[in-house]
Amino acid sequence: MGNENTAFEGKVALVTGAARGQGRSHALAFAERGADLVICDRCADTAGVAYALGTQEELAETARLIEGLGRKVISAKVDTQDRPALEQLVARAEEEFGHVDIAVANAGVSGMSPITEHSQAVWDDVVGTNLTGVFNTLAAVAPGMAQRGYGRIVTVSSMLGRSSAPTQAAYTASKWGVIGMSKSVAQELAHSGVTVNIVAPGNIDTPMVRNDNLFRTIRPDLDAPTWDDVAPILGMLHAQPVAILDPAEVTRAVLFLTDEASAHITGIVIPVDAGAATRTSA
Ligand SMILES: NC(=O)c1ccc[n+]([C@@H]2O[C@H](COP(=O)([O-])OP(=O)(O)OC[C@H]3O[C@@H](n4cnc5c(N)ncnc54)[C@H](O)[C@@H]3O)[C@@H](O)[C@H]2O)c1
Repeated sequence: MGNENTAFEGKVALVTGAARGQGRSHALAFAERGADLVICDRCADTAGVAYALGTQEELAETARLIEGLGRKVISAKVDTQDRPALEQLVARAEEEFGHVDIAVANAGVSGMSPITEHSQAVWDDVVGTNLTGVFNTLAAVAPGMAQRGYGRIVTVSSMLGRSSAPTQAAYTASKWGVIGMSKSVAQELAHSGVTVNIVAPGNIDTPMVRNDNLFRTIRPDLDAPTWDDVAPILGMLHAQPVAILDPAEVTRAVLFLTDEASAHITGIVIPVDAGAATRTSA
């Protein structure tokens, strides 16, 4: 095994949805280990998502933190649903850095809604970002990686990518889709030195989970539910007795899958979900 602190020296990593949450955690971990970064975020709210998304200030803060670690960063306000914009970002990174070696298709949104009230906006936003956005990311980085004969791609599914839950029709559709799509692309790129793997997080401590809208959806019986009211319910989704995990736990799996030495691991799903997948997957 190489030195953990220099494992990504000379590498360039693209992380989508990097303004905050898991995306920021992954980006900083790559920077700490020597990589230069390409980061993007939509930096805008949208009708089908009932909580605030990342902001331009937060994306700028991620970039500042990367630079503070002595690494270079290209940072852009790009919505992963916009394939030409994503392709332009990758082209700019290939021009300025010479190569993009790693991509983490992390940008995602949650839209909980009973099927009787499931609006077109929720479906469009959730599937548009979580499935089409991940496809666009794969499509933007794959040509350059295949041509150069090297790449490590990680897509982000969820424990709901292999299970189901009420109010999650769009989200489960998108996250099941990410797994099938990623495995297909893993096969396609198997002859090119490019691996494609999937992480499937459980409840992770980011604003996607820790927001009032989610609290109210889980506890409609309460006027102003708090974290303490929802934690026991969220905890039941896991097998281990823990309601929520730190983003750093997902980052550890991302670092493992994107390591140069993980050359012959492709098409797998790593759950980081306190044992939730024991109930749904072989
Ligand atoms: N938090 C959890 O419990 C959990 C569980 C399972 C899977 N996930 C997945 O992990 C990933 C990261 O989520 P998080 O927990 O860090 O949430 P988060 O809301 O804190 O961060 C997501 C970031 O992605 C950005 N984003 C959303 N749509 C975008 C788009 N179309 N283009 C560019 N950027 C976009 C947001 O602005 C935000 O900054 C998502 O794919 C999510 O579905 C999260």
